[in-house]
Amino acid sequence: MSQSDQAHSTRAGLEVGTKRLVFAYIVSATAWLVVGTAYGLIAAIKLYWPEAMEYSVLSFGRTRPIHTNVVLLGWSSMALMGVALYVISRSSKTSLYRPGFARAGLILWNICMVLTVITLSVGLTRGPQEYREILTPIMVLYAIGLLCNFYTAYQTIARRKVPEVYVSNWYIMGAFCWLATIVVIGYLPFYQNGMGNIVIQGYFMHNAVGMWFTPMVLGITYYALPRMLGKPIYSYALGVLAFWTAILFYTLIGAHHFIFSPVAWWIQTTAILFSVGMMVPVWAGFGNFFLTARGSWSRVRRDYAIIFLLVGVWGYALSSTQGTIEAFRSANIYWHFTNFTVGHSHLAMYGFVAFCIWGFVYGLIPKITGRGPSQAAIGFHFWLAFLGGSLYVVSISIAGILQGTSWVAGESFIASVDAAAPMWLWRSIGGFMMVFSHIVFLVNLWAMRPLPVPPASEMVEATA
Ligand code: HEM
Ligand code: HEM
Repeated sequence: MSQSDQAHSTRAGLEVGTKRLVFAYIVSATAWLVVGTAYGLIAAIKLYWPEAMEYSVLSFGRTRPIHTNVVLLGWSSMALMGVALYVISRSSKTSLYRPGFARAGLILWNICMVLTVITLSVGLTRGPQEYREILTPIMVLYAIGLLCNFYTAYQTIARRKVPEVYVSNWYIMGAFCWLATIVVIGYLPFYQNGMGNIVIQGYFMHNAVGMWFTPMVLGITYYALPRMLGKPIYSYALGVLAFWTAILFYTLIGAHHFIFSPVAWWIQTTAILFSVGMMVPVWAGFGNFFLTARGSWSRVRRDYAIIFLLVGVWGYALSSTQGTIEAFRSANIYWHFTNFTVGHSHLAMYGFVAFCIWGFVYGLIPKITGRGPSQAAIGFHFWLAFLGGSLYVVSISIAGILQGTSWVAGESFIASVDAAAPMWLWRSIGGFMMVFSHIVFLVNLWAMRPLPVPPASEMVEATA
C-alpha cells in the first residue's frame, strides 16, 4: 500500500476523499451554470435584437437547447448529485462506498456536457423534441454516469450504521429510479412518431422536473433544513405522506403540456385532475418545512444560507400552485404557447431548484471544509439573484399575459409581438443580473474550497 493509500484508509483520509468529491461536483456544476446561463442571455438578447451576433453557432435555434440542456443536466443535476452524495453519507453515518464510481460518474457527465455543447452548436440534434435534443450515444454515456452514482449511493445506504433509512434517502433513491425510467422511456425508439411521441414528450418533460429535480431537492432539504436550523424536522409522517402522494399524482400529469392538442380528451382531463391532486404533496412538503422554521426567525434573519433555502421552499409552493392553475383549460387557453410558461419554468427551476441548491451549498459545504465566504458576500449573491430572477419572472409573465389576451381577442400575431417586446428587454436586464450573480457565486465557492491535504506523515501523527 502506498503512503497516500494508507492515509486514505484512515477515517480522516476517507472523509477528505468525500469532501473533495462533493466539492468537485459543485465546482463543475457552477462552471456549467455560468456557461449555460450565458447562452440563455444570448438567446434572450436575440429575441428583441435578432441581428446581434449573427453567427450560425449562436442562432436562437441552437443557443436555446444548449441553454436548457446545460442548466438542467450540467448545473442542476451535477450540483444536486454532489450534495446528495454528502447527505447520503452523513445520514447513513458511514463513508461513501467506492467513491471511485461516483468520480467516474462526474467525469462522464462532464464529457457529455462538452459533447452536448459541441454537437448542438453545429446543429447535430435528435430534432425538435424539447429537452431530448441530445444525440442518443451522448445520452447513453449520461445514463452510464447515472448508474455509477446510483451504485455508490445505493451501496452506501445499504451499509448504513443506523437502523432506519432517513426520509431524505427515500426521496434521493426514488429520484434515481425515476430518472433511469424516464431516460429509457424518453429515448427508446418505440412510440416516437405522431401522437405517441407527443404523449412520451409530455411524460418525459414533466417527469424530468417532477420526478428528478423535485424529489432530489426535497430529499436534501429534509436533511439540510433541520441541520442548518439546529432542530428536528416538524413531522416525519408529513414527509412520508408527501413522498407517496407525489408518486401517485406527479407521474400522471405529463399531458397537461398538451391541453387542447389532439391528445385524447380524457388523457388531458386526467392530467388536469392529477395536477389538482398535486396540491397535497406540495403543501404537505411546504407546510413541513415552514413549520420547521417557525420560531427560528431571529436565526433565519442572520443567515443568508437559510434565507436562500427558505426562499427556495417558497418558490416550490408558488411555482407548483401556479402550475396547477395553468393546467385548467380556462387558464391554459390564455397562457399556453405564450411566455407565461417560460415565467413558470424559471420560477420553478430558478426560484425553487437553484435557490435551494445555493442554500445547501452555503449551509453545508463550510461545515465540511471549515471555511466559507462572509455573510456580506453571500448577501451580495442573494440580492443580485433574487432581484434579477424576480425581474425576469415578472416581466416575462406579463409578456405572456399580453400575448395570450391579444391572441384570444383575435388580433394579428404581430400585435402580440409588439405588445410583448418591451418585456423581453426587461427579461434580459434581469438575466444579466442573474448571470452576474452566478460569477459572484463562483468566487464565493472558491472561498469554501477544502484545505490542502496534509502530508501523509502528518496525518499518521495526528491520528496516532
Ligand atoms: C403541482 C406542480 C406543478 C404543476 C401542476 C405544473 C404544471 C405545469 C403546466 C400545466 C405546464 C405547461 C404549461 C403550458 O405549456 O401551457 C408546466 C410547464 C413547466 N413546468 Fe410545471 N408544474 C408544476 C411544478 C413544476 C416544478 C416543481 C417544476 C420544476 C422543478 C416545473 C417545471 C416546469 C417547466 C420547466 C415547464 C416548461 C416545460 C416546457 O418547456 O414546455 N413545474 N407546468
Ligand atoms: C439556473 C438558471 C436557469 C435555469 C435552470 C433555466 C431553465 C430554463 C428552462 C427549463 C427553459 C425552457 C422554458 C420553457 O420552454 O418553458 C429556459 C428557457 C430560456 N431561458 Fe432559462 N434558465 C436559467 C437561467 C436563465 C438566464 C439567466 C437567462 C437569461 C436571460 C435565461 C434565458 C432563457 C431564454 C431566453 C429561454 C428561451 C425562452 C423562449 O423560448 O422563449 N435563462 N430556461
